Amino acid sequence: MTAQLIDGKALAARVRGEIATAAERLANDTGIRPGLSAVLVGDDPASATYVRMKGKACDEVGFKSHIVRMPGTSTQDELLEQVAQLNADPEIHGILVQLPLPSQIDPDVITLAISPSKDVDGFHPTNVGRLVAGDLETGFVSATPAGIMKLIAEAGIDPVGREAVIIGRSDIVGKPTALLLMHAHATITVCHSRTADLAAHTRRADILVAAVGRPNTVRGDMVKPGATVIDVGTNRVPRENGDGYRLVGDVDHASVADVAAWLTPVPGGVGPMTIAMLLANTLKAAERAAASSS
Ligand code: GUN
Repeated sequence: MTAQLIDGKALAARVRGEIATAAERLANDTGIRPGLSAVLVGDDPASATYVRMKGKACDEVGFKSHIVRMPGTSTQDELLEQVAQLNADPEIHGILVQLPLPSQIDPDVITLAISPSKDVDGFHPTNVGRLVAGDLETGFVSATPAGIMKLIAEAGIDPVGREAVIIGRSDIVGKPTALLLMHAHATITVCHSRTADLAAHTRRADILVAAVGRPNTVRGDMVKPGATVIDVGTNRVPRENGDGYRLVGDVDHASVADVAAWLTPVPGGVGPMTIAMLLANTLKAAERAAASSS
């Protein structure tokens, strides 16, 4: 079997097109243009790249975007003050504080300070609580897990009654993805660094989500024939010719492609969908703001 690739790039382009149309309609009807503010503390190159990509994606769908750059020596109070200003700014509908933060700042304190109605990352405990309760409408579902669900749907796979195995238990990806799959009526297993026999679990998976941040974690002999495999990894590895880096996932693409029915590529799978779903959340935040001010 050779897996079909789930084209996240094409799906994301389609979603962005729908968002651009809806944003234009909102602006015409209400005069409100969705606005996203991304806060970058310090100069971590990967974080700077992600924030730039998010800003560019906003521009392309007609949102206002605003990047706040703060020095890596900023204090927690300075960042809290910045968040308070953005919470109070009526032109900003979505706030994103790029993680990780420098060690002098507690990310939980910052997340808690962001207004839940502007928390387009879906990290605030109020929004996490809604997700746990199965309320996927009132708040915001974090972008990567929401994108994963769209990719699974794009492959034509209905999770009802399927075995879904998630490798990784992070707050950003593993846990919320497990919850979304559970709400979609899959039977879920969450594996992690202390799981005794990883392959025994992954071989049962109809839907396998790899979100660990380590190349080659999933090999072909760990995959059930015909499975749908979602590769969330974005690992930078040095190129063989010594010329910079290339991006690889958590899945050994060649061996898994021989066994799975569907597989997301890296790059061009989950990554573009994460940005598209962040835009979708920002649009939703702006639509809510428009409805509550009319
Ligand atoms: N760092 C890595 N992924 C994310 C994300 O989805 N949101 C934020 N704010 N920071 C991140």
